[in-house]
Amino acid sequence: MSYKKHYQHFLNQHPGKLHCAPHSHHYWPDVTRQAQLDYWDDSAKGVDHKWDTIFGERIPAVQQHLAKLLDHPAPGQFVFAQNTHELLYRVISCFDPQQPLRILTTDGEFHSFSRQVRRLEERTNVVVERIACEPYDDFASRWETALKAQSYDLVFISQVFFNSGIVAPAVDTWLGLVPESTVVMIDGYHGCGALPTRLRDIADRVFYVAGSYKYLQAGEGCCFMTVPCNCDLRPEYTGWFADFANLTKPQQGQIDYADDGLRFAGATMDFTALYRLETVLDWWQRDAITVEKMHGYVQNLQRRFLQVIDELKHPLLHRGALLAHNLAQHGHFLTFELATAEQVVQLATALRDAGVETDYRGRRLRFGFALYHDADDYQQLKKAFAVR
Ligand SMILES: Cc1ncc(COP(=O)(O)O)c(C=O)c1O
Repeated sequence: MSYKKHYQHFLNQHPGKLHCAPHSHHYWPDVTRQAQLDYWDDSAKGVDHKWDTIFGERIPAVQQHLAKLLDHPAPGQFVFAQNTHELLYRVISCFDPQQPLRILTTDGEFHSFSRQVRRLEERTNVVVERIACEPYDDFASRWETALKAQSYDLVFISQVFFNSGIVAPAVDTWLGLVPESTVVMIDGYHGCGALPTRLRDIADRVFYVAGSYKYLQAGEGCCFMTVPCNCDLRPEYTGWFADFANLTKPQQGQIDYADDGLRFAGATMDFTALYRLETVLDWWQRDAITVEKMHGYVQNLQRRFLQVIDELKHPLLHRGALLAHNLAQHGHFLTFELATAEQVVQLATALRDAGVETDYRGRRLRFGFALYHDADDYQQLKKAFAVR
């Protein structure tokens, strides 16, 4: 079974190319094209009243889909923003800047978080402890030791590390070590839509952020966060969407917030990406394409890709250079770590010349896998190294 027929518009723009960077920028399926026009048409039809359609129909529909996808019991707890950084900063703004802020995290978090907290550390009362991801084999025990050693105001960790594809320890294995007063955030960007994910048992305890740019296949502009039910935090970085229902009441006295996910909302945004996301999730529902199914498909692609890697017998690009902890439970890209950044650039260039698009950072070369690949496509790698 090939899924390529669903990605014709993107594939046709790149004949002969094998796009191995969906973990960076995923191709958009054809169904998303009409969504662009639908947003335009709803805007033309509704003008000012388009917000009734967006807030009354489109957002609830996507909330329902995402809650189902992530096995979350309360769709109303999903809040949307253009990017995860905005949502992250809204959570951080709940902490009084005059008070000490202690953060526990890892050294493998995406820039939106890592850059932001490095900047926060310039305040003298912010302390960030970063647990090294490597060695992966004992990360879980080092993470637990850190959690037991002291309490933190904020614990922030990825579901799948963006710079390796390695899956972090499951939240429910360590959440019991975290005091009730600690805010827990999971960066699910490399998990959502890729790995089967069940938030049901932790939904009342964690903030889970992810977005549409990668495995949800809807492009940039539609990130979301789940907010624990009964959350009474008061983001200082707040926009007027955060109390949308009460806008007609006098705006005086203490700032109020919505009781659901909107509590963490900002202000006016372009919802085109949310329309695209809805069409992707509708398509998956229509064709019974589940995350389990897609994950199985990608795992098979990864196995077939590694067979080709074995056949290449390349001195640098081989399984010994692969960053992995447990390939049976791994994100949707494979990362090879080479001795030098120059070797990585040379390899990526040879691959690009043979029509294989990868992405790399420093000494790490990443290959991503997606529904728009067929297992036989990886034979194209042999062209890069002149193997018959
Ligand atoms: C782990 C992770 N988190 C978040 C993001 C996106 O962050 P933002 O939406 O703030 O640009 C990415 C994008 O590559 C990512 O890999």
